[in-house]
Amino acid sequence: PIILSQTHFTHRDDLTYPFEERGLQFGDGVYEVIRIYDGSYYLLPEHIDRLFRSAEAIKIDLPFSKEDINSLLHDLLEQNDMSSDGIVYLQATRGSAPRNHAFPTDTPANVYAYIRDMPRKIDQLTNGVSAITQRDTRWENCYIKSLNLLPNVIAKQEAQVKGCYEAILHRDVIVTECSSSNIYLVQDGSIYTHPATNNILHGCVRMRVEQFTDDLNIPFFEESFSVEDIRNADELFLSSSTSEVMPVVKVDGNPVADGKPGNITRQMQETYEKDAN
Ligand code: PDD
Repeated sequence: PIILSQTHFTHRDDLTYPFEERGLQFGDGVYEVIRIYDGSYYLLPEHIDRLFRSAEAIKIDLPFSKEDINSLLHDLLEQNDMSSDGIVYLQATRGSAPRNHAFPTDTPANVYAYIRDMPRKIDQLTNGVSAITQRDTRWENCYIKSLNLLPNVIAKQEAQVKGCYEAILHRDVIVTECSSSNIYLVQDGSIYTHPATNNILHGCVRMRVEQFTDDLNIPFFEESFSVEDIRNADELFLSSSTSEVMPVVKVDGNPVADGKPGNITRQMQETYEKDAN
């Protein structure tokens, strides 16, 4: 496999980092996960825009323009003869320097990107998944797609130990998002999701979901809902680049409505599939 390292291509075994690397020691960096269907990117410009927003928010200078990285990522597909479903993982850190909390000076960012096969989760997309609720213990800048994922990792692990797919996070009683996806509640034919504040990641799929509801004439409200609201929801679904539009049919052991993926969720899934192809 060929990977992108800085702005060059190399074999993945040839990439090494000094152990004094700021991504490794401080989680001092940002990343993106971008979906690939049949060897083509889905929502690539949206992900590149967010990468630049995240990097700017923590003052990392990226060593390329948006146009450059767009074409480098396309070259990466070609270099790997990628023609199936997968993802590209891209990260940019503040670089390699002797350990010191304050930023190093004149140190270039470290960037790499690689491709991985990832089939669509057909079984879960068809039948829905279960989730747990968990306190959201993250910081106040969750709109930055930062490498600091410890609370997310712990929440996801807790879900997995309980046999669940995701952890639905809440600050006080307000549901924010999930450990690695955004979440939506359907009530009386309308869709609700947490507003795009600093407390959630502004998902690229979330942005498309909002646009789909416009096309489908489904009322969409960027209004937060509570953990209690989930118990009375008609439908619940989540979204991300790896999960697509995923029905959530059970929360904390209780079925959501009749415990089957709902009609509006199905419409969103169908629209997603058309959009991604
Ligand atoms: N996660 N919220 C969080 C906390 C996320 O980590 C993600 C994505 C999303 C959905 O964003 P998008 O629609 O742009 O994929 C929401 C990726 C897939 C990950 O960390 O693997």
